[in-house]
Amino acid sequence: MGYDEIMKLFLERGFLMPSCEIYSDALAGFWDYGPHGNTIKNRYVDLWRRELVRRDGMIEIDGTQVMSKKVFVASGHLESFVDPIVKCEKCNATHRADRLIQEATGQLVPERLPVEQLDQMVVENGLRCPSCKGLLGKARRFNLMFRVGVGAADDDSYLRPETCQSIFVDYPRLFKVMRLRLPIGVAQFGKSFRNEIAPRQGVMRLREFYQAEIEVFFNPERANDLGKYEEVKDQKINLDLDGNMLQGVKCSEAFEQKHVPNKIVAYYLALLHQFYEKAGLDMKKSRFRRLGGQEKAFYAEAAFDFEVETSIGWVELVACNYRTGYDLAAHSKVSGQDMAVLDGDKKVVPHVFELSMGIDRSIYCITEHTYAAEPERTVIRFKPHLAPVTVGILPLVNKDGIPETAKGIYNALKTRYDAFYDESGSIGRRYRRLDEIGCPACITIDYQTLQDNTVTLRDRDSMKQIRINKDQVELTLEKILRTEDVFKQ
Ligand code: GLY
Repeated sequence: MGYDEIMKLFLERGFLMPSCEIYSDALAGFWDYGPHGNTIKNRYVDLWRRELVRRDGMIEIDGTQVMSKKVFVASGHLESFVDPIVKCEKCNATHRADRLIQEATGQLVPERLPVEQLDQMVVENGLRCPSCKGLLGKARRFNLMFRVGVGAADDDSYLRPETCQSIFVDYPRLFKVMRLRLPIGVAQFGKSFRNEIAPRQGVMRLREFYQAEIEVFFNPERANDLGKYEEVKDQKINLDLDGNMLQGVKCSEAFEQKHVPNKIVAYYLALLHQFYEKAGLDMKKSRFRRLGGQEKAFYAEAAFDFEVETSIGWVELVACNYRTGYDLAAHSKVSGQDMAVLDGDKKVVPHVFELSMGIDRSIYCITEHTYAAEPERTVIRFKPHLAPVTVGILPLVNKDGIPETAKGIYNALKTRYDAFYDESGSIGRRYRRLDEIGCPACITIDYQTLQDNTVTLRDRDSMKQIRINKDQVELTLEKILRTEDVFKQ
């Protein structure tokens, strides 16, 4: 299904709204979550907590969004977190140099190519401003961080461009007070900010966005000393090695054949695959793509992007970066703090493997992979644990005590489940509306309910209906949330 259809549904059904929409100076790259989008986002984060953070025994923190300039001097973002831009000398429009060349020539242009090379490509290909055909000036680097002036002194600070920097600067205290032992994952979910030059495609490239990041700290000398690796080593993943696709390769094979640097990396790629399967992605349309030298972030020694295929091409959902000891060593140098910790009786500066997940994009891609326009209806087959509404409560007719009975059921459920009461329109239309937002189950109250206390339970996916006793509703919803098939009889 196409991107435009999904975005239309998101806008019309209360998933997403452009921020400050009623004002003409509203900026691109900022979106608000509506009620359904907000619920999915919260449920998605719950799943991430359950299936990655808690499953692996990680700890989670919640750091500030405004951080001191020195953090980004140390991290290298002040110098290196830049995009190449060119300005039109006639109309002053600013363009991403790498993208402009890529779109005009069809050539892959790494964003970290030296600006001189970008200038040369602009000249060689006779490129002009796409807006007015004016001449383009020289390429230069533009820093993507938002500066914040703090207090009356306007002290230099920045909105964090990645959540993980709080994890790195908090690490020495965390290690001490939480009595941590290597290897250990530290997780954080929250907002990050990037001053994108040309934010595009709705939630795919935002200026303010949600990340869920996991930084796994480990002793580099013991990167293959990981008992829990055995639990997932047979997990199959798709691995793209410089265009050479290994379909369904076991994580153990990826490690043994040295496609991934160590068991830590192999283990977390397996966990991530299992997480997205539970989130409802079509895993046949997924791959871990090993990044080449000029594609990797400046702090990464090895990197694999977890990508999924969509109607707008392959989309990166998670950057899996082997950051080595880069961050802790850099913060140690600038802050003067000792970042080494004890592993056994040896002091080490831990290495870091990171799973940096884009939440907004993940939700878009899960929706696209589970959305279907069928002849009679549009349906999103969200996994029940992600659906914005878990159960619809529908009185068949609006008379004879049926709405009162239905409201009684709704009132009993609404504080424990995302339940939605709807009495407006034909029953068919009400089912369609709930199918369209991915609600997995509907309960219909009819005349028979008044006689024998049974209700109809309707399955979103098959549209099959069964009758269950009113007393069984909660138990049945619990089973549905655990993705048990309650409709097979
Ligand atoms: N922490 C890596 C990223 O935000 O891309």
